Amino acid sequence: MKTIRNLILLVLVAAAAACGGPRPASTVGTTPDVERRVDQLLAKMTLSEKIGQMNQISAGGDPANYAEAVRGGQIGSILNEVDPVRLNEFQRIAVEESRLGIPLLVGRDVIHGFHTVFPIPLGIAATFDPALAEEGARIAALEATAQGIRWTFSPMLDIARDPRWGRMAEGSGEDTWLDARMGEALVRGYQGTQWDTTAMAACVKHFVGYGAAEGGRDYNSTFLSERQLRNVYLPPFEAGIKAGALTLMTSFNDNDGVPSTANRFILKDILRDEWGFDGLVVTDWNSMGEMISHGYGADRKEVAQEAIEAGVDMDMMTYGYISHLEEMVRAGVVKESAIDAAVRNILRVKVLLGLFEHPYVAAAAAAAVQYAPAHLDAARRTAEESAVLLKNDGVLPLDPARVRTILVTGPMADAPHDQLGTWAFDGQKEHTVTPLAALRERFPGRVTYVPGLTYSRQKRDRFDEVVAAARKADVVLVFLGEEAILSGEAHSLADLNLKGSQSELLAALKSAGKPVVATVMAGRPLTIERDLPNCGALLYAFHPGTMGGPALANLIFGDVAPSGKTPVTFLRTVGQVPMYYSHNMTGRPYRGETLLDDIEAEAGQTSLGNTSYYLDYGAYPLFPFGYGLSYTSFAYSDLALDNASYAQDGVIRASCTLTNTGAREGTEVVQVYVRDLVGSLTRPVKELKHFERVTLQAGESRRLEMEIPVSDLAFWGLDGTKKVEPGDFQLWIAGDSNSGEALSFSVR
Ligand code: NOJ
Repeated sequence: MKTIRNLILLVLVAAAAACGGPRPASTVGTTPDVERRVDQLLAKMTLSEKIGQMNQISAGGDPANYAEAVRGGQIGSILNEVDPVRLNEFQRIAVEESRLGIPLLVGRDVIHGFHTVFPIPLGIAATFDPALAEEGARIAALEATAQGIRWTFSPMLDIARDPRWGRMAEGSGEDTWLDARMGEALVRGYQGTQWDTTAMAACVKHFVGYGAAEGGRDYNSTFLSERQLRNVYLPPFEAGIKAGALTLMTSFNDNDGVPSTANRFILKDILRDEWGFDGLVVTDWNSMGEMISHGYGADRKEVAQEAIEAGVDMDMMTYGYISHLEEMVRAGVVKESAIDAAVRNILRVKVLLGLFEHPYVAAAAAAAVQYAPAHLDAARRTAEESAVLLKNDGVLPLDPARVRTILVTGPMADAPHDQLGTWAFDGQKEHTVTPLAALRERFPGRVTYVPGLTYSRQKRDRFDEVVAAARKADVVLVFLGEEAILSGEAHSLADLNLKGSQSELLAALKSAGKPVVATVMAGRPLTIERDLPNCGALLYAFHPGTMGGPALANLIFGDVAPSGKTPVTFLRTVGQVPMYYSHNMTGRPYRGETLLDDIEAEAGQTSLGNTSYYLDYGAYPLFPFGYGLSYTSFAYSDLALDNASYAQDGVIRASCTLTNTGAREGTEVVQVYVRDLVGSLTRPVKELKHFERVTLQAGESRRLEMEIPVSDLAFWGLDGTKKVEPGDFQLWIAGDSNSGEALSFSVR
């Protein structure tokens, strides 16, 4: 469908070019007909009505409270109202009572599901399964649009390399390639393949660099060079926009002194001029106003001028545009053409979404769409694929016939709100299935529940009761982690160990002498090194959402084998931040080729020399990016490239044989990494360039062929242009970022 739509667009754009001169390609898929409608409407609007379209407010509650402003054309968009009856009333006032009848664009943070909550985005990324991410986003759109929400502030495409930053939970982690692939998938899922009433406009955010907050403290300044921006932080946004994202949100941070909401270089030069983005740019919540706190503008009028001049179309909750733009246009300080451009971008989205034709929803039918069985099923599958098995001494999977009595314990065992994770406004905990509920249903009468700790932050000196229960059980299933409130916006942490007495609880459980299976549900990779010796197996589930309980039960009892991989490096201690796999090579690289070599070197007390490492914690993390075990094992053999040398416009065909060397079916995330050995700049030691999930039966081998366009190796070099620099490269095909033998090739 999408292809057909794109083809039609191409023809239309070509036709327009033939009769009306060249038009830059549209990123949002507009057509001459849409543009005509937008222009016709714009021509009828007063300056005040135009500026009204640029005003977005949080408008929950009784629509009558906002009737005058909506009727007067002073509000273009609202956020935070989800009741379909009230939303219909909002739209009725806009459509029937305002002079031009322009419908409102209704936004909401639908971040990882609407009512049916999927794993947090970091967990979705751990699936390395863009198709599944797309399916989840489509479901989120079906549920949200049924209630009248046609715009989500998602996906968050901020690269996050500092787990102290609470918002790492909301994105795809540390890697540019993975983030870009997930971002595209989410955009496609939200917006759908056609502009019907289930299309929910995506909003790529936060533009840009927000995840690089100094010290991992939310809202903090960033200092990213143009090259870092272009090579690491911008590509996911470019990918999201190429996938058709209708909108983009500016970020709170200032980068090298310039707040994003006024950053003409990123918003105009790159976004509009280089990428040709013709969608809607919205501020983050009061990020225009926050420029006053930044000390970047003296008052609301000044920051409103900064924002409009940077090309920001819509003001979320500063009231800067609505209060000051008109006087500035009348005074000749701001050109009306800038207002027209912004309003065009807003109206275009409203037209494309079909809001003029379909402003209302069938409110009575909306409830039936929520929590549909197919939605819950997709949420469960996603939670299954997103869990990462970090340790298994053989205890997993459990055999239901052998474990008769099961002790369930830990603060996350029955925490229906907390397992939903951050930004799950609409997920109702009554619909959450916790691990305790799932296990009780599956094994009636065989589950003993002793919470041990009720909250993750709780302190407890003695665990007599839970240890006594552990002694009586065949197996201990302990669910640890973080409450939802410990990650997400404004929830950064300086200490990443399990909070409260959770580690002590785990150690106490071990003393009972029974097999201990730990599951951690968290919004970030916690520093769990000290906990690993105290459990036989550890599953890392991030916050798994509504269906986390059944998914975890299925994993623990082996109905499905774990296949998730770490979307972010797991650190040994917080002092290692920032540590990510794709770092540049230093002049004094650590000696070992692999983590294992170095562990051996350390064990042998070999001198490590004056290299880039910590005296106390070495040079490596606890688990590398892309890592995860299964209940089977995989071997890579006969790795090959189809050529020794490639043209810059060529395609690398890499192949290998993947064998399931274990005793059961399993899925491996095959990853391809590349290194550019000598560049005009120091290059990363490895960069992910391809991944795919491959399911094999026990003993099965399959020859895999993977295509990597040489153009994917391009980067912004010393001369400020993006290209593939000829020279020598290495390529790995492996199951994580720290394994495999390198193949060599060159680009001419
Ligand atoms: C602030 C957050 O930074 C942003 O991600 C969110 O979309 C808006 N608030 C709207 O709730």
